[in-house]
Amino acid sequence: MKFALICGASGNIGTAISKDLAQKGWSLYLHYYQNEATTNQLANELRAEYPQQDFLTIQANFRSEDAAQKISQNIFGLNAVVFAQGTTIYQLFDCFSAQQLENLWQEQLKTPMLVIQKVIKKISNAENGRIVFIGSIYGAVGSSMEVPYSAIKGGISSFVNAYSKEVASLGVTVNAVAPGAVATKMNDEFNQTEIEAVNEEIPVGRFGDPTEISHIVQSIMDERASYLTGQTIYVDGGWKK
Ligand SMILES: NC(=O)c1ccc[n+]([C@@H]2O[C@H](COP(=O)([O-])OP(=O)(O)OC[C@H]3O[C@@H](n4cnc5c(N)ncnc54)[C@H](OP(=O)(O)O)[C@@H]3O)[C@@H](O)[C@H]2O)c1
Repeated sequence: MKFALICGASGNIGTAISKDLAQKGWSLYLHYYQNEATTNQLANELRAEYPQQDFLTIQANFRSEDAAQKISQNIFGLNAVVFAQGTTIYQLFDCFSAQQLENLWQEQLKTPMLVIQKVIKKISNAENGRIVFIGSIYGAVGSSMEVPYSAIKGGISSFVNAYSKEVASLGVTVNAVAPGAVATKMNDEFNQTEIEAVNEEIPVGRFGDPTEISHIVQSIMDERASYLTGQTIYVDGGWKK
């Protein structure tokens, strides 16, 4: 049985990824931070639909020092990990406290790197190992009011570039899928006028749906995608890249 760890399975993009991968036969470790009820419900739905597969939930706050340890001690066999957790903070760069910078870095890149260190042996022992990050187009083009977020998303793409070279010989691919604007909880604070203004900038004319991101992730997870590594794939309706 092939197992994937989905970090941020409780989020909108993470849930879409979990559903697509379950449909492709994956058993899943479903990570959440605060949304326990949503994640339990997702696990129950998947168990009912795919009774031959396993669906286990794991709670961890990526801003805490022990998150990687907490996750890895709950993982047994593992073929793949997807990092779909993350938040942003909208404000001018000058207003960021050291703690806010630390929080963003820890949540999106430092803890994932520590998780990878702890599970890479398991992933490389399995065939067709996969590591996939959800990055952002802001990692390539940058965004005012989200400067640290943009820098860290760029860091994810750089990590993917470098680490893919280290583990290629182990049969593990490392890639990022970088969305533009996707209709998720993360964008709940936009009002209708702001949404319409963004829609006008996007050639496709709308926000993406989480399933349009999960579709790309599940294709990277396919064993036939073993020649794709070290890449950041932009999925943005033609917006910024
Ligand atoms: N939506 C977009 O327009 C967009 C664009 C580009 C990139 N992205 C990226 O896509 C990823 C998923 O975002 P989304 O749009 O699906 O947002 P979302 O629905 O708000 O999901 C956010 C996820 O992050 C988890 N999370 C939040 N704080 C955490 C912490 N301290 N430790 C561990 N997990 C934590 C949440 O867990 P709980 O809910 O359980 O607390 C949830 O699973 C993020 O990396 C985001 O940067 C989104």
